[in-house]
Amino acid sequence: MFILRNIVLLTLTAVPTSLLAQEAPIPAIAEACASCHQLDRSEGNTAHAAPPLFYAGNKYRQEWLEQWLQAPYRLRPAGGFFADHVITEDGIDSVDEASLQDHMAVDSSKAADIADWLMSLTPMDDLLAASSDYQPGSVSPRMGAMDFVKFKGCGGCHRDTPEYGGLSGPELYTAWQRLQPQFIVSFIKDPRAWNPDSAMPSRGLNDGQIHKLADYLKILTNED
Ligand code: HEC
Ligand code: HEC
Repeated sequence: MFILRNIVLLTLTAVPTSLLAQEAPIPAIAEACASCHQLDRSEGNTAHAAPPLFYAGNKYRQEWLEQWLQAPYRLRPAGGFFADHVITEDGIDSVDEASLQDHMAVDSSKAADIADWLMSLTPMDDLLAASSDYQPGSVSPRMGAMDFVKFKGCGGCHRDTPEYGGLSGPELYTAWQRLQPQFIVSFIKDPRAWNPDSAMPSRGLNDGQIHKLADYLKILTNED
């Protein structure tokens, strides 16, 4: 019995976690990305100074990914890890632009292949399905901005125009082009369900309030 139990234990511990999680192997075209980004769910989150990509297929719009990878523009005004790139003088934060690096770019055929592969990563289907069904609606730009900045406090961390807003979160004036609408509502509802280390608080907003905020992000893109 004793020997048998040990054999069973040994067999169990010898199975690599990557097999248990049944992740597909990272293809050669994406190997360069793995040095900064988390591409595999089982890998843990802590050592990364770049946004996780292991649920890319639950988050991005494919057309956006393909274009951005060819001509990346800055999404976080202060880079991947905010505290490394912000200087505070007299209580006012500003970005140390010289310390920021440009993101690597790839050619169009590589971008298409990488985007295809990233879109196949959908471990969070259940989480998305659990969020409230969102039908995009409309909101006036003035009311939307007031809600975003004043009432909900989103502007403390996010920019809703290139000139205005916080530095620690990704800009949101291109969020509608970048993100799937259902991801937007699910993330606002419970950021830590997506990223246990998220700096974004859950404000306990109800579905109607969340849908209004998503509608505001939508008009930021549709406006010129
Ligand atoms: C040297 C580190 C590094 C490498 C290598 C790298 N990235 Fe990034 N990536 C970053 C950082 C930092 C950001 C955040 C940039 C920002 O917010 O402006 C980022 C942002 C992104 C984003 C947008 C994430 C989001 O939701 O805000 C995507 C998509 C992305 N990278 C894909 C890739 C792919 C695909 C590769 C490989 C071809 C790659 N990256 C290689 C560091 C890296
Ligand atoms: C304390 C800072 C903070 C506040 C306040 C905040 N966020 Fe965030 N938000 C972040 C950070 C940081 C991220 C990047 C993802 C992460 O780190 O989890 C993020 C990510 C997001 C994303 C996903 C964007 C992407 O490209 O990944 C959306 C959408 C979003 N926030 C909307 C909002 C809205 C709407 C509000 C107001 C209700 C809000 N946030 C308030 C810090 C904040």
